[in-house]
Amino acid sequence: MILIDGKNTAADIKKEIQTEVAHWRQQGYRPPNLVAVLVGNDPASLTYVRSKERQAKQIGFNSSLIQLPFETTEQTLLNIISKLNHDTKVDGYIIQLPLPSHIDSQKVIMAIDPHKDVDGFHPLNLGKMLVGLPAFLPATPYGIIELIKRYDIPTDGKDVLIIGRSLIVGRPLSILLSQKRTGGNATVTLAHSHTKNLKHHSLKADIIITALGQPNFLKADMVKDGVVIIDAGINELAAPETKRGYRLVGDVDFKGVSLKASYITPVPGGVGPMTIAMLLKNTWKAYKLHFKLS
Ligand code: GUN
Repeated sequence: MILIDGKNTAADIKKEIQTEVAHWRQQGYRPPNLVAVLVGNDPASLTYVRSKERQAKQIGFNSSLIQLPFETTEQTLLNIISKLNHDTKVDGYIIQLPLPSHIDSQKVIMAIDPHKDVDGFHPLNLGKMLVGLPAFLPATPYGIIELIKRYDIPTDGKDVLIIGRSLIVGRPLSILLSQKRTGGNATVTLAHSHTKNLKHHSLKADIIITALGQPNFLKADMVKDGVVIIDAGINELAAPETKRGYRLVGDVDFKGVSLKASYITPVPGGVGPMTIAMLLKNTWKAYKLHFKLS
């Protein structure tokens, strides 16, 4: 069994970007700039955005957080988005989700300038991805594609089962992995809460990607020997003995499934670190497009 090390791979990717940033800084260009907007003070969201900001700074970006109170109106948020769209010193920005229920997330996402949409959530970027045009890819699917590529895992003609049809993980992945290109060409099954007899599908799959948000959902008796497992689940399980009071587990019962898998991602340290690395890569792409760098 080979453990897919997302932490190391993410570090490699960040190093690659850092080297490029240093090169262009020496030519006199300003640093890339990533802004995060957080409405409210959900502790998990705050941890994520702080981590994005810290890692951006580590590789030579400017990065800042706009934290707004929970009561912020939709119009106030749309005004801030308009300012970010017009600010030529902002290369990319993200609106951390979920937003409070009095704000229409779809309306907010539609207001983002697609050239600065480094989360890849704007319908224009999702549409470009669908037709195979260059686009900002959502960071988690992009990170999974990159892990598969860097570990030389073949996808051509393989049976891939994706469990979970969310707009930010499962659905984009189903498109990317079925595309007619190197790193695609898979036969994809997208399973969800209405899927009948999931085990029938999972026992046939050469590659299983879980993104459903249920701790230890995929068990050893549901997979075949030699399966490749990519676990995009991040679930908090109560653990009173720990300092934080919880520990992170994936959607896969790692202990059992790892005995049958040929490749497997751990949680934490698998897909999670890749998500931030790919967000930074998207921001770097936005910067290069802005300055027409190659
Ligand atoms: N909430 C959970 N994941 C994400 C993400 O990748 N981007 C944003 N903006 N919000 C999230």
